[in-house]
Amino acid sequence: MSTTDQQAAAAWRVADLEQDQSWIFSLSDAAARQLARTVMAAYDPERPLFDYAREDFDLGPAWETIAAALQEAHHGRGVALVHGLPRADLSEDEFKLLNWAIGLYAGVARPQGKASQYISAVRDAGVDYRAASGRGYSSNAKLDFHVDGADIATLGCYNAAKSGGQSMISSSVLARQILMDERPDLAEIAHQDFYFSRQQEETEDEGPYYGQPLFDFADGRMFGKWNRNRVQSAQRIAGVPALTDQQRETMDVIDQILARPENMYTMYLKPGDLQIFNNHVTLHSRTEYVDFDRPEQKRLLFRLWLAPSDSVRLPETWWDFYRSVKPGSVRGGIRGHAHDAACKAFEARQASALGMTTDG
Ligand SMILES: [Fe+2]
Repeated sequence: MSTTDQQAAAAWRVADLEQDQSWIFSLSDAAARQLARTVMAAYDPERPLFDYAREDFDLGPAWETIAAALQEAHHGRGVALVHGLPRADLSEDEFKLLNWAIGLYAGVARPQGKASQYISAVRDAGVDYRAASGRGYSSNAKLDFHVDGADIATLGCYNAAKSGGQSMISSSVLARQILMDERPDLAEIAHQDFYFSRQQEETEDEGPYYGQPLFDFADGRMFGKWNRNRVQSAQRIAGVPALTDQQRETMDVIDQILARPENMYTMYLKPGDLQIFNNHVTLHSRTEYVDFDRPEQKRLLFRLWLAPSDSVRLPETWWDFYRSVKPGSVRGGIRGHAHDAACKAFEARQASALGMTTDG
């Protein structure tokens, strides 16, 4: 697909996703059974995730389907959904390993927060989303539209909520086009820096906040960045300029455009679903939810952040967060406070297996 075609595909409206559902994939029962078999054969509760390699898993015909979904999310519409991961056959830890195994094929997993974890269990841990160190994935709160901290994010659903937890997506490429048409004055503001808090997860060589425009371009492609919670949180950090009235209006209008019914696609993830986003062109959010009482039934997704080997060049303004804008480099993520030698060795090994550079 040419860059122009990709940009047009990524500027979808709800009607586009409904009319052409080629972004939704399904695994056959046989393919799902093989996934379950390879994960159960490899699973060892004593073995750290970093010790598994691609060769430990034969994903079989499922990989072709998942690879096509990753391609659609990365270089097509910016979003894809795969139905039919073998949820019923696998324990929570085995399902987590299945998500990890998919990640080993798909790219270099990126750390996701203060604990430098490379896979996150998305569940309600009672965290206050609006606190200075709050993160949405550990709360049951309604989330603002936002991007995650890597080129690609995958969410594998193990349990759905008792009620709520609806997943919403909206195209940032479309949102920018609408903003340009309706409010060119605010589009100009959106192309200038906003300040985002690192939510107290910064590593030693990073400040507590960083500046980044909400939209920028590289090699003819548009890149979007948005996270209201982090922008508001940064307002409490010394040294961050106060938001101007025009910036506040830009934030409100963008959120309003993203949530228009014709722009915001909604879905409920079911157990065994794998949702994939390209964070540069797709924003996501979810509604608040209520859990079942029994711990083993509570809403649970496993999230990976990935740097794929076939990534494209990022805008220079993305460097501060991503630490590299080079195509095909290991970039993005939140290295956090425990990014140690074991993390670095894993990244170097996986990068070399995929022919990727780690030199920024
Ligand atoms: Fe997210």
